[in-house]
Amino acid sequence: MTHERTPAMTTWDPTRVVERYAQVRAHTEALAAPLSPEDQTVQSMPDVSPTKWHRAHVTWFFETFLLAEHESGFAPFQDQYWFLFNSYYESLGPRYSRPDRGLVTRPGAHEVGDYRRNVDDRVRELVEGLDEGTLTKLAPVVELGFHHEQQHQELLLMDIKHVLSRNPLQPVYAGTRRTPSEPDDLGWVEVEGGLVEVGHEGAGFAFDNELPRHRQWLEPYRLADRLVTNAEWLAFMSDGGYQRAGLWLSDGWARVNAEGWRAPFYWVEHDGVWLEHTLHGTWPVDPGAPVTHVSFYEAEAYATWAGKRLPTEAEWEHAVVADGQGDAARAGGNLADQQAFHPAAAPASAPAGSRLRQVYGDCWEWTASAYHPYPGFHPPEGAIGEYNGKFMSNQMVLRGGCALTPPDHARLTYRNFFPHAARWAMSGVRLADGGAPTATTGQEAHA
Ligand SMILES: [Fe+2]
Repeated sequence: MTHERTPAMTTWDPTRVVERYAQVRAHTEALAAPLSPEDQTVQSMPDVSPTKWHRAHVTWFFETFLLAEHESGFAPFQDQYWFLFNSYYESLGPRYSRPDRGLVTRPGAHEVGDYRRNVDDRVRELVEGLDEGTLTKLAPVVELGFHHEQQHQELLLMDIKHVLSRNPLQPVYAGTRRTPSEPDDLGWVEVEGGLVEVGHEGAGFAFDNELPRHRQWLEPYRLADRLVTNAEWLAFMSDGGYQRAGLWLSDGWARVNAEGWRAPFYWVEHDGVWLEHTLHGTWPVDPGAPVTHVSFYEAEAYATWAGKRLPTEAEWEHAVVADGQGDAARAGGNLADQQAFHPAAAPASAPAGSRLRQVYGDCWEWTASAYHPYPGFHPPEGAIGEYNGKFMSNQMVLRGGCALTPPDHARLTYRNFFPHAARWAMSGVRLADGGAPTATTGQEAHA
């Protein structure tokens, strides 16, 4: 697999763009390489897409938004692929039903490879034929294509994790089990708050939903210096966390009962021991590792039990900035290039000069913020405007990245989002509170 850290595009000369394109595209194929054509075809639940669908859809994205717009004499590689591999772009015409993607046995995984190679050749030819001025004009869509493909690299791993979890042979995708760990003491980082600015700034890439940068007022607050661990989650479970309606939002409690939740998504109890399915097999739950694959509802219920709350996304972003951990700090994070493919226990210390641990990587962190447009947000014109804006309803924001996120895809201002009940994403919990020291622990408060 290729796991080098690739710098973001800064110079738009054709050679550099072709190189970057080749790196991003090759990485998708490297992630799919350990999977058989049969592995790549299965859709184990409606939220999951087959691996070969991801490989084809990211190709369709370049074909649609770059080749169809700018290649002279453009014709689609296959007419039906336009329909099959459009994800959600209404303005581009009808598309195939998402929950039925697993029924598309043809084209097979190898034919998807042919599609990818065809589009790769044509993109290379197009870009190499452009002068720097024209290429600079196309830069936003080319770079969006890179980041779109990286988003799907992460989704590919989240999705195949679920596919393999349903196989009774418990296949291993990659990675090795870490030595079990014990949680250390949770620390707290005080943040002054006040009138702060959040949102993307500068010349680097950001999705449209990270803009515009704007002001927010924050009361003084504290952020936990690491993520909630499995050991702490087991204490929540032992204390009736999944049985006590009073800890839950009404919608969450309805889900607990309707879907029989009694532990995180990938946990199973066997002979009184909790085991966790991971991309490197099924193992006893590691006490010191962060809890993961919990929904917003579970995160919120846990925070209530602990006498705390979830941070807002503005609190999260400002605390990270105040802690001196801009985008450069992601270099030390447990992101996909570490090839752990699973959250790890918090390191003993934060990056030099900082106090917050596990900011980038390990688990996407649920926030208390609904996924809404920033003040002044306007999606771009045309089909590309459907990328983010139309999902700003009934979803919550997550921050920071996870162990499946490509390293140069994580970002301080990145706003990931999932519905409240989603559990198959690699999501975790960081606590916050109002800053005043509390006299009781969660267990005492709710015994
Ligand atoms: Fe997509």
